[in-house]
Amino acid sequence: MKTSIKNICCIGAGYVGGPTMAVIADQCPEITINIVDVNEQRIKDWNDKDYSKLPVFEPGLENIIKRCRDRNLHFSTNVKTHISEADMVFISVNTPTKLNGVGAGEASDLKWVEACAREVAAYASGYTIVVEKSTLPVKTAEVIKTILNTSNHPSNSERGRCSFDILSNPEFLAEGTAISDLKYPERVLIGGENQQAIQALIDIYKRWVPTEKIISTNTWSSELSKLVANAFLAQRISSINSISALCEVTGADIKEVSSAIGFDSRIGKKFLNSGPGFGGSCFKKDILNLVYLSKQLGLQSVANYWEGVLEINKWQQHRISKIIIEKLFGTISSKKISILGFSFKANTNDTRESASISICKDLLNEGALLCIHDPKVNFSQVEKDLEDFPTSQDKIYASEEKKLNQGKWKFTKNMEEVFEGSDAVVVLTEWSQYSEIKWENVVSKMRAPAWVFDTRSILNSDSVINSGINYWRLGDGSNI
Ligand code: UDX
Ligand code: ADP
Repeated sequence: MKTSIKNICCIGAGYVGGPTMAVIADQCPEITINIVDVNEQRIKDWNDKDYSKLPVFEPGLENIIKRCRDRNLHFSTNVKTHISEADMVFISVNTPTKLNGVGAGEASDLKWVEACAREVAAYASGYTIVVEKSTLPVKTAEVIKTILNTSNHPSNSERGRCSFDILSNPEFLAEGTAISDLKYPERVLIGGENQQAIQALIDIYKRWVPTEKIISTNTWSSELSKLVANAFLAQRISSINSISALCEVTGADIKEVSSAIGFDSRIGKKFLNSGPGFGGSCFKKDILNLVYLSKQLGLQSVANYWEGVLEINKWQQHRISKIIIEKLFGTISSKKISILGFSFKANTNDTRESASISICKDLLNEGALLCIHDPKVNFSQVEKDLEDFPTSQDKIYASEEKKLNQGKWKFTKNMEEVFEGSDAVVVLTEWSQYSEIKWENVVSKMRAPAWVFDTRSILNSDSVINSGINYWRLGDGSNI
């Protein structure tokens, strides 16, 4: 029997749920999609007439929302109604690393996923296909299945018999390119046991994805593939970052090394940009999951191997902080350091695990006065990320405050403000506008001897050097 999906409910209106459902709604106008979330403000923002308030910034997303919202795409807090109407429920909620208890610091906290499974068990009617979209530890589908099939919610008898199939359909979109990743995916992975349920999901994707790119596997292979894909990508970044340090002391240049090795088609050119360490919600969390799983299964050497990828990432961030301090005569106390970029990569407003957070904290701990700029991140997000450190909007650089010797930060959207009286500028996110800065127009505003630290290798080095500013680029050993 063929299952045709007419109504989808997605639980979780975040960075994954929002863009993914927007693209499905755009491609399948006859399917009604309701995205539900417990966070009322988030839903309000998704429904705001002012599109600049959309909670997720992604190039191309706003246009899709304009086309689909209130047509076949709806944002709501009414979890119960929309689950009960749905033929297919996507679970797309957050699964952060556990802070306490068993597996703290490594295992994912599944309380939100479990809550979703219980909600689906309580409100679904008839046959419902449940799709895991969140990145989850291997075997989570089993947990969801157990909850769905053993739930004895009082309303079950009223609704008649409910039945469920569980699919794993991990998301491979990268933030900043989410819409094109969703429209032109390299592959769509669907894991499951029931061919009819798998086919129902294939039928949705095949409207715009060539069938040869839709892969189906068993559930566990699908869950594990997502963790492994992210672990391999993160490993590549740690590998190239470890070599950046070697370049700096040997006279090699990491850009030349990356390019030279990338010509080997077995290595490939992508994902070889050295930088301040990977951020984002997935890489660290997924590797921690892999480490936890390996330890649980007695594979300590496997766990140690993947833990090394995370260690290098942390080391790279602290290494950059130390270099900044060293170049500024060993002390940055009360010096103004301008931070260009706070999101974990360009073209997103997401700051989760951003290298900027840890580098800013290092510098604040040394007493620096930071002026942070980012074109898309807002003040309140920076405030959350740097909650332990005081902010001061106007008086931050007043001399009486300087005496306190305490690190402080302020945030600005105004590039003019960034350079005024600054001892150093540190580029941490590769926003394209930073590569257009005319350093010859900026140098007179900075305090000499001024420094520019380019951790993303995006600046025009001639422009910086010709302006007379001291220049340091990650992985550049040409000046030793
Ligand atoms: C990643 C995966 O790419 C995606 O497939 C998965 O679904 C989610 O996790 P995302 O975290 O959004 O996506 O961004 P990604 O482009 O992978 O970048 C992750 C981090 O690595 C960023 O901090 C980025 O700046 C850094 N990075 C990436 C580098 O430092 N160098 C590179 O060459 C590439
Ligand atoms: P991701 O990057 O995986 O999309 P986000 O944190 O951006 O993660 O989004 C996850 C969303 O899921 C949040 O907006 C959160 O409020 C929502 N959420 C978590 N648990 C539930 C739940 N039980 N019911 C509805 N929404 C939930």
